[in-house]
Amino acid sequence: MSGRERVLSGMRPSGRLHLGNYLGALANWVKLQDDYDCFYFSADWHVLTDRTDVSDVPANTIEMAADWLGAGLDPERSTLFIQSLVPEHAELHLLFSMVTPVAWLERVPTYKERIEQLGITSPSYGLLGYPLLQSADILMYKAKWVPVGIDQVPHIELTREVARRFNAAFGPVFPEPDAKLTEIPKVPGTDGRKMSKSYGNDIELADPPEVIRAKIRPMVTDPARKRRSDPGNPDICPVFDLHKIFTPPADREFCATNCRTAGFGCLDCKDILLKHMLPPLEKIRARRQSFAEKPDTIKQVLVEGSRRARAVAQKTMTEVRDAVKLLP
Ligand code: TRP
Ligand code: SF4
Repeated sequence: MSGRERVLSGMRPSGRLHLGNYLGALANWVKLQDDYDCFYFSADWHVLTDRTDVSDVPANTIEMAADWLGAGLDPERSTLFIQSLVPEHAELHLLFSMVTPVAWLERVPTYKERIEQLGITSPSYGLLGYPLLQSADILMYKAKWVPVGIDQVPHIELTREVARRFNAAFGPVFPEPDAKLTEIPKVPGTDGRKMSKSYGNDIELADPPEVIRAKIRPMVTDPARKRRSDPGNPDICPVFDLHKIFTPPADREFCATNCRTAGFGCLDCKDILLKHMLPPLEKIRARRQSFAEKPDTIKQVLVEGSRRARAVAQKTMTEVRDAVKLLP
């Protein structure tokens, strides 16, 4: 593990992950384990920026971690931890808040977006400061790479600016991290819109094959194919977006051709998709299920990972306190 560049990323604990979360982030996290010293965490404090009723967070943390382990995150190779079990993040966030202009935080696009989306009339200090807490999450581990989607790039930019500001004020403690942009395939939900838990159109990693089958069979297709004899266009069909992810080229071409020529029906097309998507997903589901049955084991993994993360955090905070020089 040592000598490898460090990677850090986090997810809010919102419960079971779906195919969009897997293909957009988690699958990449799993791959990065082979080449990097990876730290992955559950951003539980971040949940509090949206709501104070967090009674579902403990169970959601376990469900999410079951998906992490099911997908192949390996606690022997990666440090899997819980943000709030490493309270040093809060101290670093506080110190960063002293060198960060409010205007920098007001400029972060996700701030305005969240206020508009949730109709917040009186945004909290914590919501404004949330990207700065993220900066503390990242810089605490002196991560070189932060695998995130494009929406999070402004947060990484902010993190670089904060590192520079802190270093200029107190001395060179922090390296500047870079975003590792994840190539996110288009993952449509069963209604053709982007897959999202809130739309109720998602396929969970926890779904057994018969449930996935029951979700795919009625899935929205090219609306031009009303009857079996109507030709369709795979380029605008959400089912075909899934083919692009799961179906090897030969079968995919076969489907595209038969779609355009009305050579077969949408259910035939979906059966071919299922033939290719069910086996890899079943492997993940079976493994996640074996962990989900042992929530105490999952908890142990996260507590042990948090202990490891905390040792790194304490080392960083010693350097930080030495640099800030408050103590006699
Ligand atoms: N803000 C991220 C999100 O909403 C989660 C997150 C918190 C994170 N801290 C992080 C991601 C640090 C990468 C690095 O998805
Ligand atoms: Fe979509 Fe396949 Fe139906 Fe064509 S045949 S519209 S690609 S589901």
